[in-house]
Amino acid sequence: MHDQDKEVQERLIQRGNLPRHIAIIMDGNGRWAKQRGKKRIVGHRAGVDSVRDVVRAAGELGIEVLTLYVFSSENWKRPPQQVSALMNLLKETLDKETKDLLENNVRVRAIGKIEQLPRFCQKVLQRTIELTSRNSGLILNLALNYGSRGEIVEAVRRIASEVENGEYRANKIGEKTISAHLFTADLPDPDLLIRTSAEMRLSNFLLWQMAYTEIWVTDILWPDFRREYLYQAIENYQSRERRFGKVKE
Ligand code: IPE
Ligand code: IPE
Ligand code: MG
Repeated sequence: MHDQDKEVQERLIQRGNLPRHIAIIMDGNGRWAKQRGKKRIVGHRAGVDSVRDVVRAAGELGIEVLTLYVFSSENWKRPPQQVSALMNLLKETLDKETKDLLENNVRVRAIGKIEQLPRFCQKVLQRTIELTSRNSGLILNLALNYGSRGEIVEAVRRIASEVENGEYRANKIGEKTISAHLFTADLPDPDLLIRTSAEMRLSNFLLWQMAYTEIWVTDILWPDFRREYLYQAIENYQSRERRFGKVKE
């Protein structure tokens, strides 16, 4: 790590009020490749370097949870050869990076309809999750075949069937009930959302969980994103006043 990074890192930790949970929409990989006259997958491959650096940096800062939007439930609508290139890249990356994740005390988890991913992805994912499950550092939460509306539908179905079975009374359903039936049940809500490549939308990501999340959008494309931008986003977050509907005393 550069001395300069070390300095910023210490300053951020000193200021306190770090986000517990950071969520990132890693966007702009295709455009990055296009700018270079390359195939889209070249951009996605380059994006893995950004992931590695950001995971390291978040772990070193003592962030509790980092949720990365890797593949949305809508991304299946892309051309099949692009989808399969992404699935292969996912497998290859998990294979290659698991050793490093283990050494860095990172605990990998996943949200999304994992059972609909190709078998070979499920297998390597389960392996990484299992191998890292006893780590105590950063939780790296991968959103894979994830869509927030689908997640909420699933939660509603499960709650409804619990009511049908008499396990639950309808008038006892509250916000906590909904939260507890989402993939993120045991995680705090994101404090900070980062989206790269200047797009100003949520793209079906953690809609329920981000009711009061602070949003930071950068025009940097994901393959160019490095820890310095993560530090910028966090520094900006630390200077904000989160009111949650209240007024300042
Ligand atoms: C986001 O990068 C990653 C995935 C959806 C897999 P994109 O592939 O959407 O890149 P752009 O937005 O087209 O540049
Ligand atoms: C969101 O990016 C999904 C991921 C980053 C995995 P997209 O590129 O799919 O989002 P839209 O289609 O531009 O909203
Ligand atoms: Mg995109």
